[in-house]
Amino acid sequence: MREKALEVLKKYNKEPFHLLHALTVEGVMRYFAEEFGYKEEADFWAEVGLLHDVDYEMYPEEHCVKAQEILKNEGFEEKFIRAVASHGFGICCDIEPSHQMEKVLFATDELTGLIGAAARMRPSKSVMDMELSSLKKKYKDKKFAAGCSREIIDKGAQMLGISIDELLEKTIMAMRSCEEQVTGEMQQ
Ligand SMILES: [Fe+2]
Ligand SMILES: [Fe+2]
Repeated sequence: MREKALEVLKKYNKEPFHLLHALTVEGVMRYFAEEFGYKEEADFWAEVGLLHDVDYEMYPEEHCVKAQEILKNEGFEEKFIRAVASHGFGICCDIEPSHQMEKVLFATDELTGLIGAAARMRPSKSVMDMELSSLKKKYKDKKFAAGCSREIIDKGAQMLGISIDELLEKTIMAMRSCEEQVTGEMQQ
């Protein structure tokens, strides 16, 4: 249930930057669920997106480990918990993304950060008028949003079996699909 997920998110996250990231990844996951033919699971995908970094603000050193404990205590099911933790594969945990949902989360998590940073530099401050070609330039410029690992994004595209261009393009579309909703919710 979204209400419950949102309540848990806000219990462990106060920083606007973290809330913005959570809401963005939520919307992106929902978009990809529909895009990849998992429409009936869209709420589930979205909630995993919303809570994927639930532990990061309070326990950055134990990221993806503490999350499993928190979500277990909050009554989330095993499938949900493993999906959340799997986005830290090879970084902070050894749970390999296997479900399509987990691969999408792995591939888009860092990328939404990069696209968000690129959007903030635009006069519109929006992804609505962002073109793939301009994003590609930012993606190739390793100094731009250097904290967003290109290695992980590339690995994510590989897991999904799509090209990096396709991943960038689809993630722009995904962020467009939820920009208004996310902005509205951040202003509440
Ligand atoms: Fe994370
Ligand atoms: Fe994240």
